[in-house]
Amino acid sequence: MITKVAVIGSGVMGHGIAQLYALAGYPVAMYDVEEKYLQKAWKAIADHLSLLVQEGIITEASKQQALNRITSTTDLAIAVQEADFITEAIPEVIEMKWELYEKLERLAKPNTIIASNTSTFPIARLAEKMATPHRMIITHFFNPAQLVPLVEIVRHEQTAGDVVEATIELMKAIGKSPVLLKKDVPGFIANRLQAALAREAFFLMEQGVAEAADIDLAVTAGPGFRWSFIGPIETADFGGLDTWKRVIDNLAPVLDKSERAPDVIERCVDKGDLGTKTGKGIYAYDEQSVVQKLRERDEFFIRLAAMKKRTEG
Ligand SMILES: NC(=O)c1ccc[n+]([C@@H]2O[C@H](COP(=O)([O-])OP(=O)(O)OC[C@H]3O[C@@H](n4cnc5c(N)ncnc54)[C@H](O)[C@@H]3O)[C@@H](O)[C@H]2O)c1
Repeated sequence: MITKVAVIGSGVMGHGIAQLYALAGYPVAMYDVEEKYLQKAWKAIADHLSLLVQEGIITEASKQQALNRITSTTDLAIAVQEADFITEAIPEVIEMKWELYEKLERLAKPNTIIASNTSTFPIARLAEKMATPHRMIITHFFNPAQLVPLVEIVRHEQTAGDVVEATIELMKAIGKSPVLLKKDVPGFIANRLQAALAREAFFLMEQGVAEAADIDLAVTAGPGFRWSFIGPIETADFGGLDTWKRVIDNLAPVLDKSERAPDVIERCVDKGDLGTKTGKGIYAYDEQSVVQKLRERDEFFIRLAAMKKRTEG
């Protein structure tokens, strides 16, 4: 029975995941290596909860209750001593993760589940140095974790059945849509699909087929509009598999098949144009517009999540 959770690493993903647990009623201990990171996380959580209040999703009282359920510490033993479930959201560096798991196995209760938010490591690699691999699982959230419903769940041969079941139940209890993979493949499901689309989008841009904004619009106003409710496989069923056979047979030969990141991305990275974090990527941003755009993005996602919840029940 999971009653208390801990989140290790309070950065981009960790703070959002801690917020989710707290809003769903779980006491959550948030850990980071320095107090300054925790302070940043507290501010991000408070700001985001305020946005949920502003959008009418939660009340001011539930915001306060959620904040009251969170504690933060730079002492790992204190963070995990009572936890039944630990979400690990530290940087994607395997040695750092191994070092942390070794400590967690010593400091946490023997049956506490350890769930990594890794984007790229196979679970067998994450667990290879563990003395208790049966309690290791991957719960892969999407950014912003507070808002995107999907959590991909990956187990390995040694992950105990009750660990998988409890993890799926917990993800549902915090309002997520868990998908359990039957095989551990690089990129899991969603990032593979996203990378396939992004490769073609940048290819079309490089070929001069359309401006970046029009390619983005072709997705958000086209397939992306459908995908929020109807996935690509069901879309093919709706369109007719005979038609989809012809479409794929005709288009597959002309789609981009490069095996590395698009040149345009590489050129931007070489120049230090990394996107919103440097003020320039494919598009240009001033400081004000970045703050505004991120807020707008969160408002749109909050409204979409609320609509999906209402529609899908
Ligand atoms: N950013 C994304 O879009 C995204 C999406 C899905 C999954 N992920 C995965 O989530 C994990 C975290 O990514 P992020 O983007 O939140 O990173 P981040 O750099 O924003 O946050 C990592 C946090 O961990 C802290 N940290 C560093 N070493 C630590 C240690 N030894 N113990 C505890 N905390 C430590 C850092 O101070 C930082 O606050 C990674 O595995 C990443 O691949 C990221």
